[in-house]
Amino acid sequence: MVDLDHYLQETKAAVDLALMVDLPSAGTSKVGDAMRYSVEAGGKRLRPILCLATAHLLGTGQKAVIGIACALELVHAYSLIHDDLPAMDDSDLRRGKPSCHVVFGEAIAVLAGDALLTLAFEKVAAYGLENRQAAKAVRIATVLAVAAGVKGMIGGQELDLLAEGQTLTLQRVEEIAALKTGALFKAAVKCGALAAGAGQREIKVLSSFASSIGKAFQIVDDLLDSRGTVAELGKPVAADLKKAKATLPVLLGTEAAQARADQLYRLATAELKKLKGNTELLQMLAHRLVYRVN
Ligand code: IPE
Ligand code: IPE
Ligand code: MG
Ligand code: MG
Ligand code: MG
Repeated sequence: MVDLDHYLQETKAAVDLALMVDLPSAGTSKVGDAMRYSVEAGGKRLRPILCLATAHLLGTGQKAVIGIACALELVHAYSLIHDDLPAMDDSDLRRGKPSCHVVFGEAIAVLAGDALLTLAFEKVAAYGLENRQAAKAVRIATVLAVAAGVKGMIGGQELDLLAEGQTLTLQRVEEIAALKTGALFKAAVKCGALAAGAGQREIKVLSSFASSIGKAFQIVDDLLDSRGTVAELGKPVAADLKKAKATLPVLLGTEAAQARADQLYRLATAELKKLKGNTELLQMLAHRLVYRVN
């Protein structure tokens, strides 16, 4: 039986440590300090953890994949800095601290986000060189670039902004969740699988697992926006209402949105049953992602 809390604690600590090594030392530049501030602020590190847990399932240990796991977190950290900017969600609290632009100003926050995104791809290249895995690194870089880009997260962020104040179809709202958040979750699992040398079939099943979990993750984020507290979430609550965001809880009500998250969780775990090996860790992680309180 996996001790999930222990696993999360240990893995988060390993990711935190690895992340700090790559960030500019304190006092080197304002942008460097802003990068460090946003990454050090914490966060659950769920994308790197999913990447590492996927590799683990396929028999590849943490040491070989930690650089890729960090790359995923760097992309995520960048996305949060930009998401909080006045021109986007205009949010002044993140991970329990003032948002990057509140502390460093908008221009430095924009640059810090850009620099984190760039650093992510430096990490993927370093993984390829250090492990003599150039072919894998190219595939991983492609997956990450597509997921982060206009066909993935950025595309979703654009649709999210355009949807403010609009009443969308259920399908459209889920598409936004899939792109802005699901894409990076899917990339996390896929990159872990690629690093572990998974076959086509495993990658397909794991991607489908991650798609459902990623969508559910955003629905739960939207539910927590109305249900959680600032202390629990470390970010403002009722922010979606203030911005008239087109979310599933707004469209369907909280009960139906929760039911959809439940359904996506079941779909995800059904995928895991198609895999060989002990999928208990991924199953427990999926449960935590969907039934979290922060
Ligand atoms: C928040 O992500 C933004 C979304 C994509 C919903 P997380 O809930 O993973 O945020 P951190 O990394 O723990 O701060
Ligand atoms: C964020 O969605 C998606 C990203 C790609 C950053 P939200 O805008 O709902 O995330 P929070 O609630 O600010 O963390
Ligand atoms: Mg947003
Ligand atoms: Mg936001
Ligand atoms: Mg949100």
